[in-house]
Amino acid sequence: MLSALNGTTFCVHTFGCQMNKHDSERVCGMLESLGSLEVSTIEEADVVIFMTCCVREAADIRLYGQVQTMKNTPLREGSPLKKRLIAVGGCIGQRDGKKLTDQIKHLDVVFGTHNLAALPRLLETALENNCQAVEILESSTEFSTSLPTDRENSWAAWLPITIGCNNFCTYCIVPYVRGPEKSRPMVDILDEAKRYVAAGVKEITLLGQNVNSYGRDLYGEPRFAQLLKEMNDIGIERLRFATSHPKDLTDEVIEDFGTLPSLMPYLHLPVQSGSNRILKEMNRRYTREHYLELVRKVREACPHIALSTDIIVGFPGETEEDFMETYRLVEEVGYQQVFTFIYSKREGTPAAEIEDNTPREVIQDRFNRLVELVQRKAFEANQVDKNARVQVLVEGVSKRDDSLLMGKSAKNQTVHAPLPDGVTIDQLIGKTVEVQVEEAKTWYLFGHVVSE
Ligand code: SAH
Ligand code: SF4
Ligand code: F3S
Repeated sequence: MLSALNGTTFCVHTFGCQMNKHDSERVCGMLESLGSLEVSTIEEADVVIFMTCCVREAADIRLYGQVQTMKNTPLREGSPLKKRLIAVGGCIGQRDGKKLTDQIKHLDVVFGTHNLAALPRLLETALENNCQAVEILESSTEFSTSLPTDRENSWAAWLPITIGCNNFCTYCIVPYVRGPEKSRPMVDILDEAKRYVAAGVKEITLLGQNVNSYGRDLYGEPRFAQLLKEMNDIGIERLRFATSHPKDLTDEVIEDFGTLPSLMPYLHLPVQSGSNRILKEMNRRYTREHYLELVRKVREACPHIALSTDIIVGFPGETEEDFMETYRLVEEVGYQQVFTFIYSKREGTPAAEIEDNTPREVIQDRFNRLVELVQRKAFEANQVDKNARVQVLVEGVSKRDDSLLMGKSAKNQTVHAPLPDGVTIDQLIGKTVEVQVEEAKTWYLFGHVVSE
């Protein structure tokens, strides 16, 4: 029987982390397999799906506003539907469930992080019975990876190896909306990876909230370092992973950086704070000293590795001295990139209970000082590649100038270079070219292509 969605158009708006981006690819794959066509704007879409994030407050508020204002957006001419279907999924869907449909009367469907596969059925129910359809599960029964996919890029793939998180950092909502950590069997991961390689994929990023604890819940399964070795052996050109929790980063994984040719010299190792007191309050379960020792070992195994991190400024009770510990750590490590966040209170997490009377301006001032330092250190870190030759996986043209190609170096730096004479970008997308770097800026390298 033809789906009620056959002949419709849809668009997916995605917020938050790679987990959501990956889930969105599955949503696109499912709807396409039912005969719906993906479009890029809300105006053209008969079905609009929001894949939401609630890790910080700003995104939360924006989502409610955005769905509210959609009430008055008219349906496209020629739509087979009488009214536009709107669905909210992802982490806000999981957290708020029926509260969303109660509050927003023109919202049709709410689903969560554990039941992506239910989306087509919920949309059809809402359409056929002209009602609101909400379904939230407490935990996952299957990996969304078993669903059809429509990958964003043909040359790169995200591959979840674990879902959920058991760490309960005291500021973080993720364990509550993504459930307990579950590892995917290694054979399934390798099978999927091999299919990608056969299809011409050049870069695979293994995904999990804490990839280092991969396999802990699977009795007898190999651990993350072995998975990396097996992944290297399937012949992928570039292998990456995110995210790595410092408390679980083993010496074996560190050694892999020095020995596995496909494992790219780039490590995202979130530190969150440089103060031992704050790290303890955050329940991160490592010290500043342990973290710096990891950095030393990683650099010993792979001297040219690029490091990035996440930092939260203004955790409740953070003093100027705590902040300065973070500041000095950033100065010492010399990251290529730092993702900086102002602490955002998340209801239901333990940190939300901690009293704090630090004025907003003080936190903002610390944040600004840190951002300035991060930029200076990022500029310094890029200077080692000035006049070097780097391998660049081409992703497309530069946003500002379409005569320039844009791609990523092994160290995950953005690289720009003029398109060689007589070569179109379509001929280069998904290919690796060698670039002679002439200029090293804060956020990108610039040079010219020396071999295609
Ligand atoms: N699992 C990953 C991170 C997932 S969330 C890890 O452990 O590293 C991504 C980042 O958002 C976190 O690293 C943290 O820096 C930030 N973050 C999480 N909760 C936050 C909050 N309540 N306020 C501000 N930033 C937060
Ligand atoms: Fe959140 Fe901590 Fe889990 Fe990362 S490890 S998702 S910061 S609870
Ligand atoms: Fe956001 Fe959910 Fe990811 S809260 S950061 S989309 S796991």
